[in-house]
Formats: sequence, C-alpha cells, structure tokens
Amino acid sequence: MTTNVQFASGEFVPLEMHKVRVVQKLNLLPVEERLKAIEGAGYNTFLLQNQDVFMDMLTDSGTNAMSDQQIAAMSVADDAYAGSASYNRLYEVIVDILGTEYFLPVHQGRAAEHIISQIFVTENGTVPMNFHFTTTKAHIELAGGKIEELFTDEALKIKSDHPFKGNLDVDKLKALIAEIGKENIPYVRMEAGTNLIGGQPFSIANERQVREVCDENGLLMVLDISLIAENVYFIKTREEEFKDADAKTIIRTMCDMADIIYFSGRKLSCTRGGGIATRDEKLYLKMRDMVPLFEGFLTYGGMSVREIEAMAVGLRETLDFNVINQSPQFIKYLVDNLDNAGVPVVTPAGGLGCHIDAKGFLPHLDQLEYPAGALAGALYIISGIRGMERGTISMDRDADGNDVPAEVELLRLAMPRRVFTLSQVKFVEDRVKWLYANRELVGGLEFYDEPKVLRFFVGRLKPSSDWTTKLIAKFREDFPNGL
Ligand code: F0G
Repeated sequence: MTTNVQFASGEFVPLEMHKVRVVQKLNLLPVEERLKAIEGAGYNTFLLQNQDVFMDMLTDSGTNAMSDQQIAAMSVADDAYAGSASYNRLYEVIVDILGTEYFLPVHQGRAAEHIISQIFVTENGTVPMNFHFTTTKAHIELAGGKIEELFTDEALKIKSDHPFKGNLDVDKLKALIAEIGKENIPYVRMEAGTNLIGGQPFSIANERQVREVCDENGLLMVLDISLIAENVYFIKTREEEFKDADAKTIIRTMCDMADIIYFSGRKLSCTRGGGIATRDEKLYLKMRDMVPLFEGFLTYGGMSVREIEAMAVGLRETLDFNVINQSPQFIKYLVDNLDNAGVPVVTPAGGLGCHIDAKGFLPHLDQLEYPAGALAGALYIISGIRGMERGTISMDRDADGNDVPAEVELLRLAMPRRVFTLSQVKFVEDRVKWLYANRELVGGLEFYDEPKVLRFFVGRLKPSSDWTTKLIAKFREDFPNGL
C-alpha cells in the first residue's frame, strides 16, 4: 500500500501506507557463496533455494503479503467438503465486484485455462489475443488449437511512452477474421496487465473496440484478469474518461464486456487459487462438470477454505487505491531511476515488475547465448536478487530442434505486493546500475541439460567462458566485504 507523497525536496516518493507487523529474516550471502548457489542451480533462477536469495523478484505470484484482515479471516474459515460458508462469502464478493452470477473455483490460474481450453478450443482453432502467457499458450495447444498474437506496433518497443502497450490491434483482428473465418475462432482472449510484454495495460477504449468486433462476428470474449488490479490503476491514471472513477466502476466496466473471466488468485488476491466467472448460464454449464473432475467439489475447487477466505478479503482490498498503487508506484520509482541512468528498461513502467532489456544491456552477446539468462545469473551473483529470464530460454525449440530467438529478451524483476520496503528497492537500483557499469564482464550461457517442454523451469546451463570469475573479482574490488 503506498501513496505518492511530495517530500520537502520536491521529489515524489511512494510512501508505504501500512506498517509491518510480521517479518521474515533474509540472508545476504557473500558473493562467493552466491556463485556456488547459482552454479548448483544450473544458472537457472527457478532452481535456486529461497534461503540463498536476498530479494526474491522471480515472480509476484503467490509471494504477496497478506493483510491483518486476511489472516484474521483465515482463522474463521469453515472447513467443509461441500456447502462451506467460506465459499458463500467468496461467492458474494465475486458477484458484487465482478458482477457475474456464476463462479467456478479452481486451484490456480492455469487450471482455469485448462478448463476453458478443453471446453472451447476446437481442433486447429485459432485464439487471437493481445499477447500470450506461457501456460495459456500451452493449454490452448494441448487442446489442439493455436494462438495468434495481435499486439500493436508499440507493444514490443522497449522504449515507449505509449500508455497502453497491452492493447489488441483491432485492424489485425478484423483481418484475421476475414482470413481464417470466424468459425475457426473459438474465442478472443484479452489479458489485463499483459504479463510477458512487461505488465502493460490495455485501455477500456480498446476493449470496447474488441468487444464490438466480437459482437459483429458472434465471437466470445475471454478476459484474463490475473493482473487486473494494476490495469485498473493505469486506467485511472492514464485514461481520461476514468480519472475520477473508483476501482469498482473500472473493474465492472472491464468485466461487463467479457463473456468469460478467469484469474490466478496467486496474483490478484494475494493468496493461492483461482476462478472462472461468467454471467451466462449456458457457458457456465458447459464448464461446470470439469471442476469436480479435475479440481474438487464446486465449493472449493482445489483451494483450502483458508485460501478462499483470504481471497474474498483480498478481492475487496483490491478496491482500495492505496492497496493497488503499491506495485505500480514502486516499479515506476525503480524503472524511472534506472532509465534516467541510461540502463535499458521497458518503459513506461508497467504493473508487474521492472523489465530490463537484456539485448540492450549486453549488446556484445548473441541472442543464442541467452542474454536474459546470463543477466539473471550475473545479477544474482552480484546482489542475491533473483529475477526471471523472459527471453529465448523461455521459448522452446521449434519442430526442427532450432532455438527460437524471443521477440523481446527481458530480465523480469517482479515486485511482490506489500513485500519490500523502499530501501530494498533502492538496493536493486544500486546493484543493477553497478552491473550496467561492468556489463562487458558478463558472458553467455549454454545448456547442458535441456528439457523439451517449458525448458525454462528445470533446464540447466553453464557459462560459456570464465566470465563469472572476472565478474566476482571486480565486485570484490569495489565491495571488499563481499556483500
Ligand atoms: N495468466 C496470467 C496473466 C499469468 O500471469 C499467470 C501466471 C497465469 C495466467 C497462470 O496462473 O500461475 O496461478 O497457474 N503467472 C505467473 C508468473 C506464473 O510468474 O507470472 P497460475
């Protein structure tokens, strides 16, 4: 929770509007031990042990801090296989905030994607979308379909001042429908706070245009609201029509346009779980029986009742701008300071984390030397900060076994909600700047253990030269205590 407050110096600082009452001790290992840890993890930050990590910026998924109200609600959860009062409390919140009469709880976001894909994706059907998320694409393909990304020309530009890089290009959508025929399109998918292009929002004006095309062609619109909180923040701060609107009005305006809404509770309500919501009974009935089959009974869907309580309270907290301001304001603080220092970062600041452009940061590396992976390894070594590679390693090889260079090669430093303090954010800024000043010391990586599917999760790599030794020597020279 933050609010931008003007300091006497004139600077605007995102001031924490909460106090910390429960803390978790962190370790900042000396640099040599960090090297051992990343070697043990095969230069894959997914394989690091959390005890070896100082700031965990791998993801904002399932790592957000709970409020006292959420913890309190968890202790009065109603344990029941069927008909739990906890579920009824969540259902009421869903109806009130999302405006949907029908709700299916699931164990996390990808479970919603599994159900929606299995029910609606047709063999060889194409799902147009503003951008894919890894699990979304995998589930659509598993169901026999494919995806078509219809992002705007602005979306993949690293440096931009476009307020809505997550918009879907409506002309491309019309052209696709004309080309392949609406009968081959199971649904159109919009992702709020578009994850893989840097947590970038779409505007309501854009969503309205997409809805219009869907109506003209009788197409369903599916809305992924996992990152809606931040998208709402950006609509309020960047879309004139909504500058005085409250969060609920913006959420309802977004959700009212969709036929099916789904989310990962790990991002949206600070807990676990997820759900699928709709106003349409027929659509609900098509999906309903998948829940007891794959998730659990209809009143828990694979979640514990404690998670359900925390989700209900967390969704209500999403209506408070001091709550949803937090990550966009901290991210903007970090992104703007890095940008002003010349570090190549995705601009404007988005809503999920700070995204460093690894191609711009390490121009001496070929993309097949995995610059984003190398940067993730180097940053961990010199700081104990764990980021996530979102580049070529996150793409699997094509059918001929060739590497597929990612369109954007990013190191994501996610900002879990309500977790870090501003001095920790300043530490990130400082170490990234140090690494940028010493960037020519960072070399490439190569695989020695490479899974065929979703290789970024458990694949292992090693440096393709002795660059880590040189990097550590320089670090020791500048920081003799090795921290
Ligand atoms: N949709 C979006 C936009 C997501 O960001 C995620 C997860 C999912 C769906 C899947 O949800 O993890 O609960 O199964 N994003 C996480 C991340 C994994 O780290 O960005 P899930």
